Amino acid sequence: MTIKNIKFNVAAAGVFLAGSLFSGAALAGGDAEAGKAASATCAACHGADGNSTIPTNPKLAGQYESYLVHALKAYRSGDRQNAIMSGFAAGLSDQQIADLAAYFSSQESDLQTVEPK
Ligand code: HEC
Repeated sequence: MTIKNIKFNVAAAGVFLAGSLFSGAALAGGDAEAGKAASATCAACHGADGNSTIPTNPKLAGQYESYLVHALKAYRSGDRQNAIMSGFAAGLSDQQIADLAAYFSSQESDLQTVEPK
């Protein structure tokens, strides 16, 4: 790790007040193309582009990249418990998590707001 990276991490910690959660994500640099290839496993539940049509499976399209990284790492570590997702996250490397997050966050969400009546 270079001096520059250390400075970046310190700055990130100051900005986010939870820098330890974000510093890895900010530096990892996910590859959306690799993430797309890896997302085949996820498509049955979350939709090919992350726009799940099944209400029990959250939409991943358009979510913040850092949030998706955080969620997947939390499933992997057991901080966030879900019988289904723990299993899928367990085998993912940091790079695969970064790639998947880059892919799903770059997809357009079909969520929309409705005009108040
Ligand atoms: C068998 C169905 C299934 C598969 C396959 C699946 N998921 Fe999930 N996923 C779920 C369910 C159900 C939840 C909600 C769990 C909860 O309540 O925490 C979820 C939650 C998530 C969340 C948290 C979303 C949020 O808004 O907090 C992420 C991120 C995620 N999945 C990513 C993935 C990725 C990446 C893959 C492929 C490697 C994948 N999932 C495969 C069913 C699935």
